[in-house]
Amino acid sequence: MRPLVATIDLSALRHNYLLAKRCAPGRQAFAVVKANAYGHGARETVTALREIADGFAVACLEEAEDIRASAPGARILLLEGCFEPAEYLRAAELGLDVAIQDQRQAEWLLAADLSRPLNVWLKLDSGMHRLGFTLEGLRLCHAQLKGLGQVAELNLISHFACADERGHPLTGLQLERCGELLELAFDNCSLANSAAVLTLPQAHMAWIRPGIMLYGATPFSELSAQTLGLKPAMTLTGALIAIRELQPGESVGYGAGWVAQRASRIGTVSCGYADGYPRTAPSGTSVVIHGQRVPLTGRVSMDMLAVDLTDVPQAQLGDGVELWGAQMPIDELAQACGTIGYELLTKVTGRVPRRYVG
Ligand SMILES: Cc1ncc(COP(=O)(O)O)c(C=O)c1O
Repeated sequence: MRPLVATIDLSALRHNYLLAKRCAPGRQAFAVVKANAYGHGARETVTALREIADGFAVACLEEAEDIRASAPGARILLLEGCFEPAEYLRAAELGLDVAIQDQRQAEWLLAADLSRPLNVWLKLDSGMHRLGFTLEGLRLCHAQLKGLGQVAELNLISHFACADERGHPLTGLQLERCGELLELAFDNCSLANSAAVLTLPQAHMAWIRPGIMLYGATPFSELSAQTLGLKPAMTLTGALIAIRELQPGESVGYGAGWVAQRASRIGTVSCGYADGYPRTAPSGTSVVIHGQRVPLTGRVSMDMLAVDLTDVPQAQLGDGVELWGAQMPIDELAQACGTIGYELLTKVTGRVPRRYVG
């Protein structure tokens, strides 16, 4: 078997969820498990959290279908609502909470003959300008849906654009705009993503929506996951599958871009960009062997990458290589590649087996 595995620590997921809850005492929390739980396996994540989580949030009906059986009694929120009228019928059968982000979705609900009423989350576009009603549009929709037979709870939801940049003026503005609607007496309000859970208590409201922090990565560029008390849930581990000795002047990999400056021992590792390791990782990016950091040499290939083992003479064929995890934070790799931990986690491909521990 190819020696590459993503080990998912379920106890780390629980630790991180409970940390989110401690940040917002007395509030409820939707664990955000969209995109296959940020690559960790939605069903396994839901199963690990179902005893402690107040609810789960997903992007679409298909994702809700996938996890419903794993958490039969839990609230599951469709963050983008329904994409066509028939989805409301299925949402009612599955007992989902649905966001409504525009008048079209509201009309579909008004016309739907549901088996039971739905908890509805009216989405305000408070400044992200991606989804949601204007202040005035939301007031009108609230009046339209209040007391309707298809509606159980009528709630307010919005999403921050810049909560990961502490002190950003748009965040205050978004909070103000949401505040203007609270006179409408919603049953619940939900605003906070991980960044707001961690640093913006005034945004906690009734329900928080932590995503990335559950997986032990940071939403901030300047605050590490470790500083925040988060535990990485995923460790990506490959192995040394070849080792060779290079003379000064010899090169490694496609494009021959990395050239040995000294006699070097080069290891080939069983992980490449077709597994989700970013091809943009530059030479010098760290992986960890025997608890020691060693640098990438040359371009990442589809199934393999190369590292300089010269300073770890005890490294030998078959040794494990941590691409990311507790010793090599995914956020550090992401920064080196000009991206975010979210992207790396969600891009671990289907051919990488997930192994669950904890
Ligand atoms: C509407 C909504 N709420 C919550 C989240 C969770 O955000 P984060 O992963 O930054 O905690 C997301 C994720 O993008 C989202 O789209």
